[in-house]
Amino acid sequence: MYRVRVDINDGYDVIIGNNLNGEIASFLEKITFTGKIAIITDDVVSALYLKLFYDNLMSNGFNVKTFQLMHGESQKNLSMYEKIAGFLIHNEFTRDDLIIALGGGVVGDIAGFAAATFMRGIRFINVPTTLLSMVDASVGGKNAIDVNGIKNIIGTFYQPIACFTDLDYLKTLDEKEFACGMAEIIKMSVLKGGRFHKIVSLYLDKRDEKTLEEIIYLSIEGKNEYVTADEKEKGVRTFLNLGHTVGHAIEKCSDYRISHGEAVSIGLNQILNISKHCTNINEETKNLIRNLLIKAGLPVDIPGDLTVEHIFEAVRSDKKRHGDTVSLILVNDIGDCIIKAIAIEELKDLLEKEAAYESNS
Ligand SMILES: NC(=O)c1ccc[n+]([C@@H]2O[C@H](COP(=O)([O-])OP(=O)(O)OC[C@H]3O[C@@H](n4cnc5c(N)ncnc54)[C@H](O)[C@@H]3O)[C@@H](O)[C@H]2O)c1
Repeated sequence: MYRVRVDINDGYDVIIGNNLNGEIASFLEKITFTGKIAIITDDVVSALYLKLFYDNLMSNGFNVKTFQLMHGESQKNLSMYEKIAGFLIHNEFTRDDLIIALGGGVVGDIAGFAAATFMRGIRFINVPTTLLSMVDASVGGKNAIDVNGIKNIIGTFYQPIACFTDLDYLKTLDEKEFACGMAEIIKMSVLKGGRFHKIVSLYLDKRDEKTLEEIIYLSIEGKNEYVTADEKEKGVRTFLNLGHTVGHAIEKCSDYRISHGEAVSIGLNQILNISKHCTNINEETKNLIRNLLIKAGLPVDIPGDLTVEHIFEAVRSDKKRHGDTVSLILVNDIGDCIIKAIAIEELKDLLEKEAAYESNS
């Protein structure tokens, strides 16, 4: 079992291990609250795990209510947020009660947003159940909902009081969702480099549980370093966007057919190509990272039906664009990334150059 201390505001622990329901109950015994808990989850996670999770809390004397949404990004919207608020009001929740988000990033984001805003803030606990939400969404306190078709446009920074990362949930996750989490792990290993990067490579050869637990821990520890240094993303936290600017654009112009993790993988590969023109990255490093993504079962090339023009238009409307430039995280070497402001027209030229190179090779 690993423990990562996140030192933001009052601070909280992320516990990483197996079979953590007992840990959750004993944590709840120790904190001061009314004993009333709202579990927010989705239908898939509910069918697999809710009974066990609910029974564990009830048998420890807690008063538990549950709210279930349908799975999928389309549920992370204003009307679902209103339904959650209605459920909390109907069940007379107050600021002295507690919310537990049991699910992937969709559940974590909407439950976190509800927790941040219900009565101006009710405490909540994250129990992430996908690899992506374990290594990314559940750490750092960002939450959001999608409005008017714009992903994550309304949200806050609001930290949980604990996060229980139970690897047992991964046993039922399908290969594609697992690979999506690996995209974020590989991204973090490129940022941090050193032993972490070697262990990720080792894991993709061995696929054993012990190494998986270690790379999840290292990813969370890595993310922790960035978010504690810069909670509100005004400085170093921006590094976490490695592969994301182009990735978000690909996600968006595929109408979200391409999932977040797949888009990050394609975006990271594009960044490696762009880095060739702007940094000292060598061919060997570039291929090493690209091959890790492929080994994890992730796509690396822009799908044939998306043009550079489509992607460029989506980058142009990115909420993180600054005027006519966009800040890209580029790779010098594994463990050595830089932030560079690039004119969006120059980005278009580079993407076009690389697309022409790919189609000729
Ligand atoms: N707040 C942040 O910092 C942050 C960071 C990254 C991503 N996100 C958000 O996270 C969301 C994506 O998260 P996600 O990839 O976890 O998606 P998700 O929550 O949609 O989960 C993916 C699918 O897996 C199912 N599932 C969940 N746990 C399972 C399990 N243990 N076994 C079998 N199936 C399971 C879900 O029901 C869903 O169908 C996006 O909305 C994204 O914007 C937030």
